[in-house]
Amino acid sequence: MTLDRFRDLAAELDRSDPLAGYRERFHVPRAADGGEAAYLCGNSLGLAPRTAREAVDRELRAWQELGVEGHFKNERPWVSFHELLTDHLCRVVGARPNEVVAMNTLTVNLHLMLASFYRPEPRRFRVLVGHAAFPSDRYALRSQIALRGHSPDDALLVAAPRPGEATLRTDDLVGLIERHRDELALVLMDGVNYYTGEFVDIPAVTAAAHRHGVVAGFDLAHAAGNVPLALHDWGVDCAVWCSYKYLNGGPGCVAGCFVHERHGLRADPVPRLAGWWGHDKATRFAMGPDFVPIPGAEGWQLSNPPLFSLAALLASLELFSEAGMDRLRAKSEALTGFLDRGLRELFPGSVDVLTPADPARRGCQLSVRVRWEARKTHAALLARGVVCDWREPDVIRLAPVPFYNRFADVMRCLDVFDQHHRGSGDG
Ligand SMILES: Cc1ncc(COP(=O)(O)O)c(C=O)c1O
Repeated sequence: MTLDRFRDLAAELDRSDPLAGYRERFHVPRAADGGEAAYLCGNSLGLAPRTAREAVDRELRAWQELGVEGHFKNERPWVSFHELLTDHLCRVVGARPNEVVAMNTLTVNLHLMLASFYRPEPRRFRVLVGHAAFPSDRYALRSQIALRGHSPDDALLVAAPRPGEATLRTDDLVGLIERHRDELALVLMDGVNYYTGEFVDIPAVTAAAHRHGVVAGFDLAHAAGNVPLALHDWGVDCAVWCSYKYLNGGPGCVAGCFVHERHGLRADPVPRLAGWWGHDKATRFAMGPDFVPIPGAEGWQLSNPPLFSLAALLASLELFSEAGMDRLRAKSEALTGFLDRGLRELFPGSVDVLTPADPARRGCQLSVRVRWEARKTHAALLARGVVCDWREPDVIRLAPVPFYNRFADVMRCLDVFDQHHRGSGDG
């Protein structure tokens, strides 16, 4: 198809988009020319829902008017405010209410999960991770391995793609788990990888781990609010995610955590790093010396949570429940499919899409390598109001988000690629 035909198709797809109205429920930043940016950066920081400000203001007013009484006497008492997010989070990650909680930040939650679920034994102490695991996850893991007296270099088993390939194959992951079954204590994979955009086959990896008594945990930073998840049914042991990317909770927003109920509801509680907010609600304020955990994921809470952050996230999660993950995913597949097709058809041999072509193996993000001046292309995208990011050494990440992106935004991105491609002399 020609660029003009892609342009016509984008207009048609925008006209028939059942979720088009959601764009105006968000604040879309301005580009240098004063018009709206084509914001393809929800993989890094999602946009602000218009309702977020009022949600935060409401709690600021309560603080002003009630002071400490707000904990119990506010219309939405702060002491139990996080519970308002539970049902929404369950829909986003496919969990039961006792399996999720909004608390802390991602890396903190990862440490809490590792403290409980990385239980190395003398022979079984290794951890399977992906080749492109996020640095913070590696640091957290290496430090936990060292704390337990093992060598991080010996303990980490890194799954790598086959030569000439950019992403992992499920069969290879399963094979690796089988080959190392007697050494592995834990599999810790990204749901969607930050660098390649690959959506790992979570149920297959979890099942392979469980066949050999290995714990399966996931970092869902790039998966939550992006791809369909069914953590309970898949039997995932534990998972963590942040809320500032696809969940649009705002910078540094309170994160999420999943603990499967077969662990969370155990009669003999799973060992953990404890804090008073995870203590049995009925007796928390009795201030007793012994920790009695709340059954379920809430029992891993440490501190009373950041209220304004919870309020902003709640405003965003209400939109998720209203729109529904199924409808968002349907639009997401169409948007990303359009971008993928445009890049492959318009610039064959000049742009490599690292992200799998199969929609079932990716979320909304495409990671691309440009064979002509890649950095200049990225700079040109930014200069033309297409907000996207760069990951060293040579990848541009483009993430059309179904809530607030239009096919026209993707078209704008393709237009810049086209102009730059021609200008490079490679076109
Ligand atoms: C995959 C992944 N893991 C972990 C983190 C670290 O998150 P935080 O700074 O919220 O702990 C990020 C941040 O972008 C991420 O993308």
